[in-house]
Amino acid sequence: GLPKRYSNLEELEADAQPLLTPQAYGYYSGGSDNEWTLAENKAALGRYRLLPRVLVDVSTVDMSTTLLGQRLASPILFAPMAQQRLCHPDGELAMARAAAASGLPYILSTMATSSIQEVAEAVAAAPEGGWPCDPTLWFQIYVLKRRDVTEMMIQEVERLGYKALIVTVDAPRLGHREADDKSKYSLPPHLSMKAGLGAGWWGGVARPVAGLDGSNLELITKAAATTEGVATDGSKFGRHFSDLFDQRLTWEFLPWLKQASKLPVLLKGVLSPDDARKAVELGADGIIISNHGGRQLNYSPAAVDMLPAIAEAVQGAVPLLVDGGITRGTDVIKCLALGASAVLVGRPLLWALTLGGQKGVEEALALLHYELELSMALLGCPSVDQITRDYVIQPPGYPL
Ligand code: FNR
Repeated sequence: GLPKRYSNLEELEADAQPLLTPQAYGYYSGGSDNEWTLAENKAALGRYRLLPRVLVDVSTVDMSTTLLGQRLASPILFAPMAQQRLCHPDGELAMARAAAASGLPYILSTMATSSIQEVAEAVAAAPEGGWPCDPTLWFQIYVLKRRDVTEMMIQEVERLGYKALIVTVDAPRLGHREADDKSKYSLPPHLSMKAGLGAGWWGGVARPVAGLDGSNLELITKAAATTEGVATDGSKFGRHFSDLFDQRLTWEFLPWLKQASKLPVLLKGVLSPDDARKAVELGADGIIISNHGGRQLNYSPAAVDMLPAIAEAVQGAVPLLVDGGITRGTDVIKCLALGASAVLVGRPLLWALTLGGQKGVEEALALLHYELELSMALLGCPSVDQITRDYVIQPPGYPL
């Protein structure tokens, strides 16, 4: 577990940093360009005020909620994050088991360093006494240039019992992460992106390449680049990203995916109300309002500031999720009050994994749950669905 007693999630990063290589720390912590959006995520949450109601019976506070028909211990999800074995040998396996132990969904990234099957097996093997709820795994898709391979990946995800698909749409190319440039960041040779680039699909594609498995990015890149790759300067990681993933992706993908899969589909990385409306029209089952943790377009707004306008645009048609800078129970409450059904937490979970593995992540979640439960009581909202707009005050300049 965590090496010492922490009071909140914001204390973890400073202790995690010295345990990581400068490359890994830079990759995890960094944002794009001058990191204005990264800082704005935290600043935006800080601008909202919570307005408590008094003399409400809060003798029991229920943090649980239902999302897409799935019962969750609280409205908190594990954000999809690439390459979790950089900070802990069990990486995604430990993180997914911590999510299951906490009763929360784990979202596996296409760029994960564990395979889709390994993660499914990790949560299938329940500890003595079982999990508190059925483990919930979701899968985050970066659409490969090879649509046929993308389809195989989705079939594998369905076969192994993952319950929702998240399509990340804010990364036609990787943002300019200056820290990665400076450190010449690339995945260490003992790791590979086994989830999306594992032997499973690439072995079976129409144009097999000898020796192809997830550990050989150069070969994969050759097989994947059916359209011209964008190989300029920058980190090796950024270059591979552009080579592998489909920069021609447009709205036609959403109806395509809806017919290719029975799973609910959420779009991640939507910030504009018009895009949100369009997503609903084309069949999205949910929207994740996000600026990718300040790692893609710099000077894009904080998700929480776009939430009221997007809620207005979609009129409750689908659940809205939000991420970016969430470290506190009161942050979660602000997002719910402004119209979100749930939130995603990113970097703090990586710091917890670095410091204490699976148990460390469970302890971090317990801290966040402690704050959420207490703050709901102090706000006078003993259940999640009671947290409405009436409990948040708008800062000047942001129409609600
Ligand atoms: C990410 N994020 C991300 N998103 C995604 O859709 N696919 C991915 O593979 C990744 N990878 C990734 C790696 C790292 C190291 C980070 C920090 C982030 C973005 C992530 O899902 C989420 O949107 C943000 O991290 C949320 O912001 P906070 O909580 O980190 O502030």
